[in-house]
Amino acid sequence: MENIATIILAAGKGTRMKSDLVKVLHPLLGVPMLSYPIDLSLNEIRAEKTIVVIGHQADRIKERFEDPRIQFAIQEEQLGTGHAVLKALPFLGKFNGTVLILCGDVPLVKPRTVRSFIDDFWREETVLSVLTAVVEDPDGYGRILRDQGGWLKGIVEEKDASAKEKEIKEVNTGIFCVKASFLSEGIREIGQENAQAEYYLTDLVEIARRKGLGCSAHTVSDPVEVMGINTRIDLATANEVLRQEKLRDLMLSGVTVIDPKATYVDRTVEVGRDTVLYPNCILQGKTKIGQRCVIESNSKIADSQIGDEVTIRSSCVITESRIEKGAIIGPFAHLRPLSEVKGRAKIGNFVEVKKSVIGRGSKANHLAYIGDSLVGEEVNIGAGTITCNYDGFEKHQTIIGDRVFVGSNVELVAPVKVGSDSSIGAGTTVTRDVPEGALAISRVKQKNIRGWSKKTEFRRRKSTEQKKE
Ligand code: UD1
Ligand code: CA
Repeated sequence: MENIATIILAAGKGTRMKSDLVKVLHPLLGVPMLSYPIDLSLNEIRAEKTIVVIGHQADRIKERFEDPRIQFAIQEEQLGTGHAVLKALPFLGKFNGTVLILCGDVPLVKPRTVRSFIDDFWREETVLSVLTAVVEDPDGYGRILRDQGGWLKGIVEEKDASAKEKEIKEVNTGIFCVKASFLSEGIREIGQENAQAEYYLTDLVEIARRKGLGCSAHTVSDPVEVMGINTRIDLATANEVLRQEKLRDLMLSGVTVIDPKATYVDRTVEVGRDTVLYPNCILQGKTKIGQRCVIESNSKIADSQIGDEVTIRSSCVITESRIEKGAIIGPFAHLRPLSEVKGRAKIGNFVEVKKSVIGRGSKANHLAYIGDSLVGEEVNIGAGTITCNYDGFEKHQTIIGDRVFVGSNVELVAPVKVGSDSSIGAGTTVTRDVPEGALAISRVKQKNIRGWSKKTEFRRRKSTEQKKE
């Protein structure tokens, strides 16, 4: 087995995406397109070197993929794929094994496919091999020319192809294996004499043949794997392929997906066995969901940790939060960043929580805002409770002890502390700390005015008569 170095071509802008964002940073299943070939090289092939050729929005790409295992080669001007590889060459140094060339915009190729492509290349002992695909519609791709023995003879770009060559349905996927020794010498011989006046990497084939060196070609069994992404339509197609793969993996690992047509799980999300995902749930980013959970319809969970046996009812939005075992959230709850819901706690409908801890077994079942708060265990938060955490300038904290009963429609004006085992009467505005075990109540005393309806009868009658007229 020889050593492998990977060169990933990603300097192009991606004009056909019609975007301010460089093509390879467009997300597929929640991660940038370019992370697929990079991941393949670093973690699947475990290449000795991973060199990424960048140009458009180079700084943005570098920042996103900062990793000591990756080297970035800069191609200021995009003069063609051959020129891009030339820019990567200095980073190969004395490397003398197999160079694997991948494209930043061909993200679906499977590790298994690339490995067997490399194995074939080693077995044949040619200097160059190209991965090809036979497609129904070869428009826009370079066509594969083979000799009578089936060996690779050349690759002709669409724009340079004759009418006859255009009929060829076997195309260049842009993925190559090349011997480093041949690459470093052959790449310098590539010229620009073609329809696009570009340095074509594909010219390497003819250069090798001229030197009497063998080239080979291998066809993938599933052309979908090597689709190139050029437009947003391609992006959607590729995303769909990856989405279904992810859902299949989850189902095979014991997750129930009620409707795979309408379930959206990012590549980076983990879901435990016997968890049920209802239609239209969206799980994003670094979200991790435990076992035996139920995630109901229309809930969106991003970058959150959900323990075992948690129920997320319909239409919740949960971001950067932690929910512990047995908690029940929703329907229609909003957990904003840095919310922590402890074991068996309940957050009900139209409750918003932000940067707060809700203790074990505590409940806020309806219509409340809890922000910048520490809520103890077994606390009851009544409907309409609001922590007034913002004084117009700064945020302040509300601290509630254990077993506190907060009645309905209570305002807690922060900073404020409520001692354990205390109660707060409905409608109270809490502006001072409440001692342990106390009852806090602040209300205008109720007045009952007797005979009120009689006093107002005359006015009522008059208004009904006016309406009739
Ligand atoms: C290229 C191939 C074509 C193949 C197709 C597969 C050549 C000459 N043509 O065509 O045979 O069928 O890919 O998808 O190789 N890039 C750079 N610097 C450049 C030019 C391109 O880094 O100067 C990168 C692009 O960012 C992209 C990749 O190389 O990731 C392919 O470039 P693109 O312009 O899309 O090539 P195609 O015209 O599609
Ligand atoms: Ca092009």
